[in-house]
Amino acid sequence: MPSPQLPESLAQRAQNPIDLRRVLVDDPGRAARLQVSAAGLTLDLATQRVDGPVLQALTAHAEQQGLIEARRSLFAGARVNVTEDRAAAHMALRAPRDAGFTVDGAEVSGDVHAVLDAMTVFAEAVRSGTWRGHTGEVITDVVNIGIGGSDLGPRMVVTALAGQVAAVRAHFVANVDAIELRDVLAGLDPARTLFVITSKTFTTVETMTNARLARDWLCQRLPDAAVGQHFVAVSTHLDAAAAFGIPGEQCFGFWDWVGGRYSVWSAVGLSAMIALGPQAFADLRAGAWAMDEHFRDAPLADNLPVQMALVAWWNREALGLPTQVVVPYLQRLIHFVPWLQQLEMESNGKGVRRDGTAALSSTPPLWGDVGTNGQHAFFQMLHQGPQAQPVDFIVAAAPVSDDPADVASHRLLLANALAQRSALSFGKSAATVESELTAQGLDAAQRAAMAPHRIFPGNRPSSLLVMPRLDAFHLGALMAAYEHRTFVLSVLWGVLPFDQWGVELGKAIAKTIDRALATGTDGAPLDAATAYWVERFRQTQA
Ligand code: F6P
Repeated sequence: MPSPQLPESLAQRAQNPIDLRRVLVDDPGRAARLQVSAAGLTLDLATQRVDGPVLQALTAHAEQQGLIEARRSLFAGARVNVTEDRAAAHMALRAPRDAGFTVDGAEVSGDVHAVLDAMTVFAEAVRSGTWRGHTGEVITDVVNIGIGGSDLGPRMVVTALAGQVAAVRAHFVANVDAIELRDVLAGLDPARTLFVITSKTFTTVETMTNARLARDWLCQRLPDAAVGQHFVAVSTHLDAAAAFGIPGEQCFGFWDWVGGRYSVWSAVGLSAMIALGPQAFADLRAGAWAMDEHFRDAPLADNLPVQMALVAWWNREALGLPTQVVVPYLQRLIHFVPWLQQLEMESNGKGVRRDGTAALSSTPPLWGDVGTNGQHAFFQMLHQGPQAQPVDFIVAAAPVSDDPADVASHRLLLANALAQRSALSFGKSAATVESELTAQGLDAAQRAAMAPHRIFPGNRPSSLLVMPRLDAFHLGALMAAYEHRTFVLSVLWGVLPFDQWGVELGKAIAKTIDRALATGTDGAPLDAATAYWVERFRQTQA
């Protein structure tokens, strides 16, 4: 059901969207035509239910919604995050030293690169063994303690780019469930372990709880004075880090104009820089900057993040598709979807427009897993569920190495990604099923009973996003492409993408409940449904 958000020019086209089963046959040139490339990535929209005129109308609509001015304000470092009265200038974090990026009228590239330089010196010291633990041992393991944007970005990047042998192994602890920390610490030698406490606010309860547990663990095994050599902090609140006991020279700062989910490019990426090396981190930033420049400068019609966003918006608003699926056919991108979920849903999961009026719609749930694993879990629903779910297939053209085993496995990955895209596009018709069942010797009654279960409707849209290979530069470009896609979608939906008030209420209530669980419900401002379980849980714990 087309949404009322659609302008007239698109509403008419939405009444009769193209049928992939037909156009992919009638118009073979479509595959080469409906492509846009940037920073080494190619986005292929041939299997989306759009054509040239629809994309043109969508592009014109984005322009009418003020995308060009919104993009200009973003890159000018204006206070686009109006409810928190600050800029959202994550692009400044990957801009070259001489870019002269300004935020709120002030040049920030100098400060950004001063922190990057300090991170580089520190990362090199740890990697080379110059930085040693309290007993003089070299550091072999780094544990990043953080959650949300202070975890998902570095965790994803390290997993994506880690080689077979790392100079320093990186571990990540996010959950307040103590078992995650305990499992990580079980395999570690305190004398060789460095903790990176990563929190923009340095107040997040999960992170501070785990940081204290980690400090206790260390101090039970080494003298208290060891904290200085085994803990560093990443935060915008360096005073809070100092109060925790981390010396000022071991605190790496960033700025309030860096949103948590856009922060991996800042000091939040320290554990990644230590694990992967400063050059890989520089390449990651360079790839993102290449995508930034493309997004900033390219006309909307040739703009990769813009076109990604436009088809996503079309799928939601014109075709009424309920969710967005993302499937990277790369095992090393196992953490890509969780990173992307925070990026997209914390940014655009809003029911209110910029002007405070109700948003008619906004971002659909985004989910997925790596291929081919997902094929053996949820692809059944993608192919034969009652509703289509659009899919972003992400592949790398080249294998991770030229080892023959990697080459052969990689060919299978590519074959599967293309096969799933084709199966979603074409499905399997009643006529094909009928002739297959006939060939198997089923009689007419058996065929009639069986056929409905064997038919795939097809005409289910997807995009194909191709990287030349999974390396730091192209991962950076991929991440920045999705960041800008999120921004463009916020403009189309008219929502504010850089705040996240929706996560605050639950945090505040959890504090009250935690107190009640410890001391009882008497006088606690709890609703009856909550108080019931607080008392039940207290009995269990007694
Ligand atoms: O979940 C809410 C949130 O504020 C995210 O936006 C952020 O990435 C995460 O918590 C962690 O916050 P911090 O880095 O301040 O610990």
